[in-house]
Amino acid sequence: MIVDLILTGILIYILWLLLLAKPSRFPPGPPIWPFIGNIYQLRTWGPYLYKSMTEMKRRFGEVAGFFVGPNPIILVSGLDAIKEISFREDLSGRPLFFHHKMDKAVNGILFTTGERWKEQRRFTLRHLRDFGFGKTSMENITIEEIEAVFAGVDKSLEGMEKSWSKPIVVHEILGTANINVIWHILAGRRYSFSDPYLNQLLNYIKEVIAGNEIGGKLELAFPKIVAMFPFLSDAMANCEKREKVKSFIKKDVQEHKKNIDIENPRDFIDIYLAEKEKRKDDPGSTFTDDQLVGVGLDLFAAGYDTTFNTIVFSLLYMILNPEVQSKVQEEMDSIIGNDRLPSFQDRDSHRLPYTEATVLEILRCSTVVPMSVPHAPLHFMKDTEFRGHVIPKNAQIFLNLYELHHDPDIWGDPQNFRPERFLNDEGKLIRHEALIPFGIGKRSCLGESLARNNVFLFFACLMQRYSLRVPEGEPNPSDDPIGNITIMPKPFRVQVKKRH
Ligand code: HEM
Repeated sequence: MIVDLILTGILIYILWLLLLAKPSRFPPGPPIWPFIGNIYQLRTWGPYLYKSMTEMKRRFGEVAGFFVGPNPIILVSGLDAIKEISFREDLSGRPLFFHHKMDKAVNGILFTTGERWKEQRRFTLRHLRDFGFGKTSMENITIEEIEAVFAGVDKSLEGMEKSWSKPIVVHEILGTANINVIWHILAGRRYSFSDPYLNQLLNYIKEVIAGNEIGGKLELAFPKIVAMFPFLSDAMANCEKREKVKSFIKKDVQEHKKNIDIENPRDFIDIYLAEKEKRKDDPGSTFTDDQLVGVGLDLFAAGYDTTFNTIVFSLLYMILNPEVQSKVQEEMDSIIGNDRLPSFQDRDSHRLPYTEATVLEILRCSTVVPMSVPHAPLHFMKDTEFRGHVIPKNAQIFLNLYELHHDPDIWGDPQNFRPERFLNDEGKLIRHEALIPFGIGKRSCLGESLARNNVFLFFACLMQRYSLRVPEGEPNPSDDPIGNITIMPKPFRVQVKKRH
């Protein structure tokens, strides 16, 4: 009996050492529970992971460490530490998620590393940035989508042009506008808002994004168990949805191949296929059909709901802060008037400083990618050091962007929506180095200029044309966002009135 007790004690001690002991010089964090690690303390299963991360920074400082199941997570907070880590080559890798392990190959940009990532990122960035190819300029593409949104909103105002509309759900106003912008860049055409093909694609993309959640998913903590018993999680179903989005892109790639004119590329798919052809005899080329589909998937996954959610937030902040809405509209009326739409030129020549400052404040308050996209030690090769701590080779690194953008030591009154913080005494725009919603450094957002353009133009055009308010008699909606890898406001309603 005593021997049994001693053996059980030794077994528990060994298990404790194996399961609970942190690696030496692992960053400070809460005690680790057997098997589940810190899933409970982080509340990783809920919609408020970014809030747990704010709390963890307060308790454990700028570099904190946790475990989700057996997997180490490092949380890096504060501008200097985030900048430092974002420029470190050896920490510019990405973790591999369940679907990558299932795919057995990683394509695209978001999760690739090494030469493939460098070449694909450089190529895509160049062609997104100087979007000089194709017959229509980027601004025209965006305006086309904005006008489609106008048409939808105007429809709900039919017969009541001078009065407030019935309450409408904001998430529905914007329809498929953003997905169309990306589709246009990729495949050179747009679909009508009600097109079933586009709406089906949109639904799959939403599900792929939801399936990308970081945090408490079983497959993240215990990928091997889920691979053995797939019915335990929705991970396999998510893999299937990714395949469906890929099949949409593959179909377009095949169609492009039938009538491509290499000398006159129409869109990104053409430009990519032309590059693939040019490099066909180069054994080091990373241009393949699978890679093209991977890039397309990443542009949808990284570009669609980030931009969409930011625009939804912009409208939420305007109904919650009607005095800001009025100031933006006054600026529109005095600088642009009513005969034409605002343009990138207006912004680039700083003719709309208050509107620009409002967009910066929208980006700060919303921080739609609150913990960035996880980084990882490059190629999972070896444990690495950061500020005296050990980062295990299989760690995921979260960058605490939401906390940075809401840190009272930096912003004073972060909870207030106050565009004036981005204006000097003469009303001119000032940049703030702690505002980094697109990340910074080696892995910074590839779609940053596209996203800034889209958010600015959608917001400015909507403000010029409509006034928005909380529906009469209804309480103010909450500005407490929900989500995981990306966040968004809970669905809310507005009343709309045409301004001119
Ligand atoms: C408001 C909108 C957006 C926000 C706030 C945003 C934010 C971010 C953030 C925080 C990262 C991770 C940076 C890091 O790992 O350090 C990222 C990466 C990325 N974003 Fe965006 N993004 C937005 C829109 C877009 C758009 C429109 C596209 C393209 C259509 C895009 C494509 C990407 C890609 C491909 C990456 C991965 C870059 C890499 O791993 O090298 N994003 N984004």
